[in-house]
Amino acid sequence: MSKKLITGVKPTGIIHIGNYFGAIKPFADIQKEYNSSIFIADLHAITSVQDKKTLENQIIETAIAYLSAGIDLKKTNIFKQSDLPEVTELAWTFSCLSTMPYIMRAHSFKDAEAKNHEINVGVFTYPILMAADILLSGAEFVPVGKDQEQHLEIARDIADKFNRTYGETFVLPKAIIQKEVATVPGIDGQKMSKSYGNTISLFATDEEIDKLVAVIPTDSTPVDAPKNPDTNNIFNIHKLILNESEVAELRKKYETPGMGYQEAKKMLAADLKAFIKPFREKREFYLKNPKKILKILKKGGKIARKNALAKMKEVRQKIGYGLY
Ligand code: ADP
Ligand code: TRP
Repeated sequence: MSKKLITGVKPTGIIHIGNYFGAIKPFADIQKEYNSSIFIADLHAITSVQDKKTLENQIIETAIAYLSAGIDLKKTNIFKQSDLPEVTELAWTFSCLSTMPYIMRAHSFKDAEAKNHEINVGVFTYPILMAADILLSGAEFVPVGKDQEQHLEIARDIADKFNRTYGETFVLPKAIIQKEVATVPGIDGQKMSKSYGNTISLFATDEEIDKLVAVIPTDSTPVDAPKNPDTNNIFNIHKLILNESEVAELRKKYETPGMGYQEAKKMLAADLKAFIKPFREKREFYLKNPKKILKILKKGGKIARKNALAKMKEVRQKIGYGLY
């Protein structure tokens, strides 16, 4: 049996091409090499999303987004975190092993507290819940973004503490951090992010693509002057969706006098439309079949829970409250 790999995604709804290149594609590319699982971290989401309709929509949209963007059901089990109630039980047992000063060092807590002193306890115990969902799965590898590195360290420390206290029980998970994935720029040149309103949705329509490309700012370099592709945002977005020889060819076009930004934008829009179309069509298929999504998640939850129940039984016995 191949090694276990797991990752969680917070349900944020529609995804952009930054999410795709930064998180989904790297996962999709390695899913076949492992016994892979991905779950929608809905219990983590409720630290901030506290509206029923919004949460429901975001769970479904996120599942659709991942299934449309390359999660292969033959290789990866996809499920909803809350379908494993054992995760919250395990998180409680971990809370009893973790000291306040240690968890207070988490960047996520410190950042949230700096912004708002009235943060909920869920934000504080967030890394403990994350340790529980990872360790319960028995996964050895966890692909995450750089911002989650500390949470992985906390999960390892908790596993180690549990193992020392109650005997060898948990695998110490290793983060797989996608270092080579560059930050995808948004249409304004800053990091593409929902919070900056500069995103290109992975499911954009042709009309939306035209509008977004049209507003990419350009400088006043004349048509008959060469242009530096590396400092050009049209190029930097375009190269993401081209292969190596296409990038080289496009680079030449920028460096040769005669190509204006109008033409560069036209080429980008055409290539983006072709790149996005299959993703959008898949999403439309799932949107028309929402029951299919629920069925996939439910089935995935059942598969994951089998393992969770067995592990939790072992944990209860080791701690001492699993008397029968
Ligand atoms: P956003 O900044 O839009 O809120 P999230 O924080 O929800 O995005 O990110 C979800 C995943 O996508 C994370 O793994 C993150 O590293 C990745 N990601 C987000 N934006 C980018 C980007 N511009 N370039 C590369 N990866 C990104
Ligand atoms: N905290 C992660 C994020 O904000 C989501 C997450 C929850 C996760 N549990 C996880 C990621 C387990 C990897 C493994 O992106």
